[in-house]
Amino acid sequence: MRLDKYLAGCGFGTRKEVKALIKKGAAAVNGATEMDAGANIRPGDIVTVNGVPAVYRECVYIMMNKPAGYISATEDRHYPVVTELLDDRYRRFDPAPVGRLDIDTEGLLILTNDGQLNHRLTSPSKNVYKTYFAVLDSEADEEDIEVFKCGMEFKDFTAKSAVLEICENRKEVFIKISEGKFHQVKSMCARIGKNVEYLKRVAVGELRLDESLAPGEYRELTDEELNILRSC
Ligand code: URA
Repeated sequence: MRLDKYLAGCGFGTRKEVKALIKKGAAAVNGATEMDAGANIRPGDIVTVNGVPAVYRECVYIMMNKPAGYISATEDRHYPVVTELLDDRYRRFDPAPVGRLDIDTEGLLILTNDGQLNHRLTSPSKNVYKTYFAVLDSEADEEDIEVFKCGMEFKDFTAKSAVLEICENRKEVFIKISEGKFHQVKSMCARIGKNVEYLKRVAVGELRLDESLAPGEYRELTDEELNILRSC
């Protein structure tokens, strides 16, 4: 593979930007400065940019704490979209959100250009649990737990058995659902006579949101986190 393509794939910039870096003598292959953007990189070659190892990859996996006010999409004519929050070095990979959170929902959103993983995690047959923290407009009780457990019939979908866990402040609940139907949590809460005042996704399967990320912040998944998602 050409050196400029390789470095672009490592996140060092666009093809044009990495060509400029190479021209400046910032790139080295197996310890020797390489100023030819077309130089052939072979498997096993050690490539660096200003001494920083360049590791080629085709996919990116990002954990974002989605802020309210953004749509879970790559483009929209009316509202800002979550991919606008990403740095160019990630946007270049064309990552897409895995599943959807409503515009006013915060919390764990995975973005990736790995279409297979995206499909697996969102496929209804996979039953991947999503956990939400919600603040309701009135207190939940034990009867509500039973209603959630039984599942619910809606006009356009059936919500399978779900888990409702009530916190000490009984307006605060954790809800675990295995599907991801449009407005599902809000619809299920409406069925028990409650409005959702605040909603945040805190986990997808066993992968938990890194609470050190403020709304709008993101980071790449660690290998361990990626393995968790792959085994969902
Ligand atoms: N359920 C909802 O109602 N909204 C979301 O954003 C996610 C799940």
